[in-house]
Amino acid sequence: MKKLTIGLFGFGVVGEGIYQVLKDKPALNAEIKRIVIKDDSKVRNAPAELFSTRAEDILEDQDINVVIELISDAEAAFTIIEQAFKRKKHVVSANKKLIAEQLTYLLALQKDNEVSFLYEAAVCGSVPIIRNLEEYFDNDLLNYVSGIVNGTTNYILTKMGNEKQSYADALSAAQSSGFAEADPTADVEGFDAASKLSIMALHAFGKIIQPHTVVKKGITAIQSADFNYAQEKDYTIKLIAKSFYDASKKHLTATVLPTFIPLKNTLALVDNEYNGVLIGSSLSDEQFLYGKGAGRFPTSSAVLSDLSALLYDYHYANRKLAHTPFDTNLLGRVKIYVNYSSYTGDIHQLEKQFKQVHERFQSENYSFIIGELDLLTLSKTGWLNDSSVSVIAFD
Ligand code: HSE
Repeated sequence: MKKLTIGLFGFGVVGEGIYQVLKDKPALNAEIKRIVIKDDSKVRNAPAELFSTRAEDILEDQDINVVIELISDAEAAFTIIEQAFKRKKHVVSANKKLIAEQLTYLLALQKDNEVSFLYEAAVCGSVPIIRNLEEYFDNDLLNYVSGIVNGTTNYILTKMGNEKQSYADALSAAQSSGFAEADPTADVEGFDAASKLSIMALHAFGKIIQPHTVVKKGITAIQSADFNYAQEKDYTIKLIAKSFYDASKKHLTATVLPTFIPLKNTLALVDNEYNGVLIGSSLSDEQFLYGKGAGRFPTSSAVLSDLSALLYDYHYANRKLAHTPFDTNLLGRVKIYVNYSSYTGDIHQLEKQFKQVHERFQSENYSFIIGELDLLTLSKTGWLNDSSVSVIAFD
């Protein structure tokens, strides 16, 4: 492709970032011709003639060969991407929720229309994880992809753990820094991380995991007592998204769980809005990618990288998707800590779920149990959606 004539949907934190970045990079041979926004009453830092509220002004413009989609509404984004593909426009998107939920359909539509669909910015902001999994690890059997993929929750956990800030103060700082989603529930309840994990699993293992099947708990139930426990044992607490391939059983498990990470481990060093991903490979052992996972310019840098790739007609080949002889399920077992101090349910029932108990502690204000149980059992306990139970896995 010689020149990118771009239609941009959304002028929020990242949309404005990419506009500014492209303005400073004339050498890229990419120009934003039109920006479609929802609300035209706001004052914007770009010439007024660029803006429109009509999607057709981009979709029906035959000069526009690339759509950058950076809106938070997943349903509206779906229509935009679908229409863009049907009009033979390439798409760069950061919409992890939409991409993860509609992977099968969008990949087929993209292929039928022979266009590129790139979304490095959807996973871990500036960290170049997707193209690494797709290209560099093309022929290497991966064992796991595991890490911190949500900047907002990592920021909150860092502030709560290291600086004893309250959850509410830390969340509000993450929101004003532009890391958090429009509805921060997606961050703090682990939905955002599950979407990113699904996308990584496609490029790591060639397997489409629906985000709702990920065994998932967010960070809203974590209490200061849990941080005290972590500190006593030389751990920190991180929200870890992990997909793990068990070669002997030929299955893939996918979890997003608050996790105790020993302070000496690499992921313990990933603080604030930074993201870090470990890639476990059969040949090269463990690799680590680290960088800013959220925010205006880090995310813009990933969009920019996708735009550069379009200049040489790059598309994800998804070669692993064609030959994946394994299945996803919940065969694994996990070691977890359950703080049930505020739990209103039946404690005996809770204890009975464990296959093996390692430790118990009970006092008036603080009670926990540590043990092992099957992932399938954990997914059925109800604890994952219960904010009165803090569940933390061990690394
Ligand atoms: N809300 C997301 C995060 C933004 O905090 O990681 C980047 O995907």
